[in-house]
Amino acid sequence: MRLYLDTADLGQIRELSRLGVLDGVTTNPAIVADAEKSYRNAVEDVAEIVDGPVFAQVIAAAADEMVREARRYQEWAADVVAKIPATREGFEALSRLRTEGIPAGATVVFSIEQAVLAAKNDATFVAPYVGRLDDAGEDGVGTVRRMQEIYDTYGFETELLAASIRNTTQAVALYEAGVDAVTMSPDVLEAHVPHPKTDEGVAGFEAAWGDRGSPLDERGDSS
Ligand code: G3P
Repeated sequence: MRLYLDTADLGQIRELSRLGVLDGVTTNPAIVADAEKSYRNAVEDVAEIVDGPVFAQVIAAAADEMVREARRYQEWAADVVAKIPATREGFEALSRLRTEGIPAGATVVFSIEQAVLAAKNDATFVAPYVGRLDDAGEDGVGTVRRMQEIYDTYGFETELLAASIRNTTQAVALYEAGVDAVTMSPDVLEAHVPHPKTDEGVAGFEAAWGDRGSPLDERGDSS
């Protein structure tokens, strides 16, 4: 399973990289706009500090221009995957990028039909929007679960990358579904860490140890 961070905030990427769980970083136009720098600089800066792919979305709506942007992204860093919206033009762009051997996948995905088209196109990944499906009154996690089952049935190699994850409850349900990959905001990843019982347990052990000092001081380690 791969876990990506959905941000272009370099401080948060650096901070959360220390946990040792990140497989790459995903961005989208809204995230890059927030970074207040050029698209190219945003992608380059993230790529410099990330061990793994950086996902960068095309801005254009027409296939020709999407392909042109995706090609250019390849020049910005060593491991860039183009995110192509799952529109009519987007699928055409995906097909052309596949022919050129440029890594690209389908994003802003809301239906199983779109996910099947992406897989048939040998897309690198497909990104269903879990939170936004829920916002629309649908079952986001359930939709991803059905996609995963269909991908497994056919042996599709496209990575099912669940996006728009709003909380850890959704994340856990996606893990239970055996999803290939998830991308989440720094907040949702941070929320994976704490548990009140962990804090309580640690405090209890600290109290039990009392003032005996470090295990590496002379009383604990004579070497
Ligand atoms: O990066 C795409 C996706 O994660 C967007 O999430 O919260 O804007 O629906 P959200």
